[in-house]
Amino acid sequence: MRLAATLGAQERVYDGFEKTSRSLIRLELESQLAGLWRMALTQIIFGVMPALIYLVAGLRPGITIGTLIAFSTLQTQIFRPITDLLNVGAQWVASMALFSRIFEYLDLEPELTEATEPAQLADASLTLQHVSYRYPGTDTDALSDVSLTIPAHTTTALVGHTGSGKSTVAALLARLADPTEGSVTLGGVDLRDVPAEQRAEVIGVVSQETYLIHGTVRENLLFAQPGASEGEMWAALHAARVDEVIAALPEGLDTVVGSRGYRFSGGEQQRLSLARTLLRRPRVLILDEATSALDNETERAIQETVIGADATRLVIAHRLSTIRDADQVVVLDAGRVVERGTHAELLARGGAYAALLRAASAADAS
Ligand SMILES: Nc1ncnc2c1ncn2[C@@H]1O[C@H](COP(=O)(O)OP(=O)(O)OP(=O)(O)O)[C@@H](O)[C@H]1O
Ligand SMILES: [Mg+2]
Repeated sequence: MRLAATLGAQERVYDGFEKTSRSLIRLELESQLAGLWRMALTQIIFGVMPALIYLVAGLRPGITIGTLIAFSTLQTQIFRPITDLLNVGAQWVASMALFSRIFEYLDLEPELTEATEPAQLADASLTLQHVSYRYPGTDTDALSDVSLTIPAHTTTALVGHTGSGKSTVAALLARLADPTEGSVTLGGVDLRDVPAEQRAEVIGVVSQETYLIHGTVRENLLFAQPGASEGEMWAALHAARVDEVIAALPEGLDTVVGSRGYRFSGGEQQRLSLARTLLRRPRVLILDEATSALDNETERAIQETVIGADATRLVIAHRLSTIRDADQVVVLDAGRVVERGTHAELLARGGAYAALLRAASAADAS
């Protein structure tokens, strides 16, 4: 509704609604009327039957009154079963249409096949080995020959222009897709051999798009970790610096969050979704622009707790001030790694990273 109001699209939305309603009316009428002409025909035939019988009997003397009455009574009794059978026919056709849609889904081949045996992970390190990835239906690689090691308990920052493939790296590390070429490993094991449940337990992802489920704050948190205690929930909210916001609400943890979090500001939504992931205490944490909507001070405070944590971290950020302390900075450009090193090393080199920093500080100054 807000989008339609701000884009001046209300009239078009009304028109669209009216059009959809009209076609719904037509379809509903069609489906209600389907098969009715057949019913009508049988009803006419059965209505005419007794008259025909009397006519035939009148024209051909010799049939007794008893036979005549018995005949016309019996034929009316056939009427009900036959109409029932016709109904079954119509219901059969409708059910088959539904079933064919259900089976269409059941017959879909899963894009990713899952391992069943839990894998023995050496540690919580991540690597990409010569990974290329192309989105289905596109003809250029989103990532080409990317190799990257994120040692356990260290922080790697991934930077680069918009569209350079940062979120794609995050998606591959969470195995939302398999690389077209090369492999992604977790603790020395190919991600394809780590079952989904184990992966979700080890790797926590806060994605660029915050998505809160329609329910209370508590339900959102419990969705991530069903067994979490009240204390654990508040600790996670505190780590994401959103505890005070929630505590100040009259209903606290039981405040309802809209499906797109309309109750909360953009930054509050980001922090809630961060808290939701932190609650699981993942050993690997992937933050894709997870704090982009926050002011510098809040972002730094969160970085301190998150960076201070023991997890292996991959931080994707546009705001370069937040990744100064990372153990390693990797610069992506058009799907390729163009530079890697510490903040100081890359700054001294005066390459792509230094250029990004310069552009950022010029934008800050203006
Ligand atoms: N689902 C998709 N289908 C096809 N192409 C996609 C898809 N998702 C991303 N891409 C393309 O892949 C490239 C890399 O996208 P990606 O989301 O990884 O960029 P990014 O570095 O995270 O950018 P940003 O900083 O804006 O978040 C882009 O050119 C994008 O258009
Ligand atoms: Mg992205």
